[in-house]
Amino acid sequence: MSLKHLLLITLGGLFLNHAQAAEPVTPIVIHFSHVVADDTPKGQGALLFKELVEKRLNGLVKVEVHGHSSLYGDEQELQALLDGKVQMLAPSLAKFDTYSQQLRIFDLPFLFDDLAAVDRFQKRAKGRQLLRSMEKHNILGLAYWHNGMKQLSATRALTAPADAAGLSFRIQPSDVLKAQFDQVGATTQKLPFSELYAALKDGRVQGAENTWSNIYSQNLYSVQPVITETHHGVLDYMLVTNPRFWFGLPHGVRTELEAIIDEVTFSVNHAAAARNAQDRKRVIDSGASQVVALSAEQRRAWRDSMRPVWQQFEDSIGAELLKAAETVNRKQQE
Ligand code: LMR
Repeated sequence: MSLKHLLLITLGGLFLNHAQAAEPVTPIVIHFSHVVADDTPKGQGALLFKELVEKRLNGLVKVEVHGHSSLYGDEQELQALLDGKVQMLAPSLAKFDTYSQQLRIFDLPFLFDDLAAVDRFQKRAKGRQLLRSMEKHNILGLAYWHNGMKQLSATRALTAPADAAGLSFRIQPSDVLKAQFDQVGATTQKLPFSELYAALKDGRVQGAENTWSNIYSQNLYSVQPVITETHHGVLDYMLVTNPRFWFGLPHGVRTELEAIIDEVTFSVNHAAAARNAQDRKRVIDSGASQVVALSAEQRRAWRDSMRPVWQQFEDSIGAELLKAAETVNRKQQE
């Protein structure tokens, strides 16, 4: 047995040789709940985490993945984490609105030019600090996982901001996202992800914003005649746990879990763009929804119409953080 394995099975301060133990070790169970399909960046990340944990922490830790809102929907999952009913989640950054106002930075429209800029911001000290911005609420961030940039889907093409006026959009529970649509004369409804398809189908809302992987895997394209490629904001995740659970783990187990999380994060974040590109192609190939690109000028008009939202939220996010985020784009926005 390697030294690493001996260290890993140092449970509760006792050296316990797994092979020689008289009693079988009761495994630590990590329930990982999420709301998306398996064939998405987050769905794949959760499954890879389970696979690596069960391979490397053989018998000591077991991971139960509950995808597709099958255990908790996004309205209940954070409370379930606080109550110790689940140990890991990866909600989208828009879902932490009641716990961290700084995380609103990720919802600001047209702040990040692309996913590479988001990645740079998340890796800088200011971005990393945000992983710990909810500790007083007993939520500990372990990593950022990418999904991708959001597109606007609707019952009509949205090439100009005025095209959105009068439509009702489903949004995640974020006040920034509400303000973004207010700017263009649209109304919003905060609805859980699990209700999105039905709400679009029965006409409760006429539009939404999401990534290609969610648009494809939730079949949203079959109930949205047009998808306008705006790339106007990011939909990324924070992998979170409950610090009471996390710091209660034996040191060797926690260290190995951290190494696995680094590996899974690398894999998710490197595969996310390709996965979204593949799902964009699948939507186009289906012929069920028309995909409309924006010219640089049309995109600028969208950006200008939503830009006042930055000022609106500057105080709650913090001017310094906003300035730091603006510097990660490669090109200066004209
Ligand atoms: C949404 O509610 O649209 C997303 O946050 C779902 C997800 O987890 O990707």
